This record gives sequence, C-alpha cells and structure tokens, in this order.
Amino acid sequence: MARRKKIYEGKAKTLYEGPEPGTIVQYFKDDATAFNAEKRDVIEGKGVLNNILSEYFMQGLNDIGVPTHFLKRLNMREQLVRAAEIIPLEIIVRNYAAGSLSKRLGLEEGMRLPRPIIEYCYKDDALGDPLVSEEHIAAFGWATSQDMDDIVSLALRVNDFMSGVMKAVGIRLVDFKIEVGRVYEGDFQRLIVADEISPDSCRLWDVETNQKLDKDVFRRDLGSLTDAYSEVARRLGVLPKGAVPMAKPTLIN
Ligand code: TMP
Repeated sequence: MARRKKIYEGKAKTLYEGPEPGTIVQYFKDDATAFNAEKRDVIEGKGVLNNILSEYFMQGLNDIGVPTHFLKRLNMREQLVRAAEIIPLEIIVRNYAAGSLSKRLGLEEGMRLPRPIIEYCYKDDALGDPLVSEEHIAAFGWATSQDMDDIVSLALRVNDFMSGVMKAVGIRLVDFKIEVGRVYEGDFQRLIVADEISPDSCRLWDVETNQKLDKDVFRRDLGSLTDAYSEVARRLGVLPKGAVPMAKPTLIN
C-alpha cells in the first residue's frame, strides 16, 4: 500500500491527502501546547477525545445548515474533511470575560459580556497570533468585506449552536475560536467552518461550580486534561469506551 502524503503538520493535528481530490484526512495528535508552544506536553488520549468532540460539534452544525468541512470520522484519531483554503484569521467569540480579554481590559473572569464580542487574530505563530482589527484585515487583503459579513454570520451561528448544546449539559460556553476556509463549488465560492471545535479551542465552565473543562486545565495546571475533556464527552454521550486512559492514580499517604 502506498504511503499517504503528509500535507501539513500543526501543533495538535496532522493533515494528509485524502482518498479523493478535495478531501483531507485530519489526524488528531496527543500533543498539547499553550502560550504559542512555550509550554508543551503529550497527553495520552487527548487526540481521541478531540476527534470525537469535533465530530459531534461539526456534524451538529452541518445538520442545522451551518456549513463545515466535516465529512465523516474514519477511526479513533482521524476524520475526513473537505479541503479548504484557510483564511489566515483566528475568529474568537466571547460571551463572558476570560483569558486575554480579561487581561487586556482588566475585566474579572466570568463577567457576562453585554453582548457576544467577536475578535480576530492574524494566524502567524512567529508573531504569536496578534490581535488585529477589520481595518488590518481589509487593508492587507486577508479577507474581503463580503467574507467578513459571512465570517460574522458563521461565528454567531456557531456561538448560538454551541451555547445551546453546552447549556443543555450544564456547561457554560465562555468563549471559543474557529477558523474559516474557502471552498469552490462550480462558479461559486463560499466559506465554511474548518479546523476543529473542541475543548482545545473553547472555554467551557461547569454552570454550577465554574470548574474548567477545557485547555485552561493544561495552560494553568489545574489537573488532568483528559479527565476534563472526558467529562465533556460523557455529558454529551459520546465518551469513547475504553479508548481514553484514565488519569494516572495519585498516591495517597
Ligand atoms: P484567549 O482569551 O487566550 O485570547 O482565547 C480566547 C479563546 O480562543 C479561548 O477559547 C481559547 C481559544 N484559543 C485557541 O483556540 N487558540 C489559541 O491559540 C488561543 C490563544 C486561544
């Protein structure tokens, strides 16, 4: 059997050429990074959980007519997705203050924002994905004004969907990041949600206790990341049986 062609290796995923033109196999690694890869670790089982959770969210979006790159899950670590030209922006939607917004504006984490706030970061690891405004995006031609209208509409639809799905299982969607890609269909082109939607790219807090069930557990050393992601998967009813190792037992003296 011929070895498949690697297209791109990122921090958390590797992309391979798919079986048909216009398709890509997205492989979820166990690597975790934070602070632009200054902090890194390998967390056994993270890739399996993110593959299943991203499938769940992307398929749910497809089902309500929000276009995504997701086609089907292939196995525990891989999914088949549509190839898309990624717009070089990280699109962040925030419902509650947290993370870099709290730091930048001196807001207490967990404060409900007056309305969802959308922010854009320019995707460039060497620069640490800097925050940019629509002015930069237009002036440097990263996206057209039509693209920006479509991006805002996609981002808000994802926010409504994800907020509802999470609320139903007792989880608050504090904020999240999506990436958007361009696909061509005959003479038309359109934008679709790409990359992944997982606890790596969202802030998810338990509604009752504010316990963090997302990558902040890793960023801030708050405990077992796979326990947190498994809890999200368990509540959504998609926890893979036996595939995710339990956190190592701790010694009790
Ligand atoms: P921030 O508060 O650090 O700017 O993060 C906002 C949201 O974006 C949060 O849900 C985590 C997510 N995010 C990513 O998915 N990738 C990144 O590189 C960063 C910095 C944040």
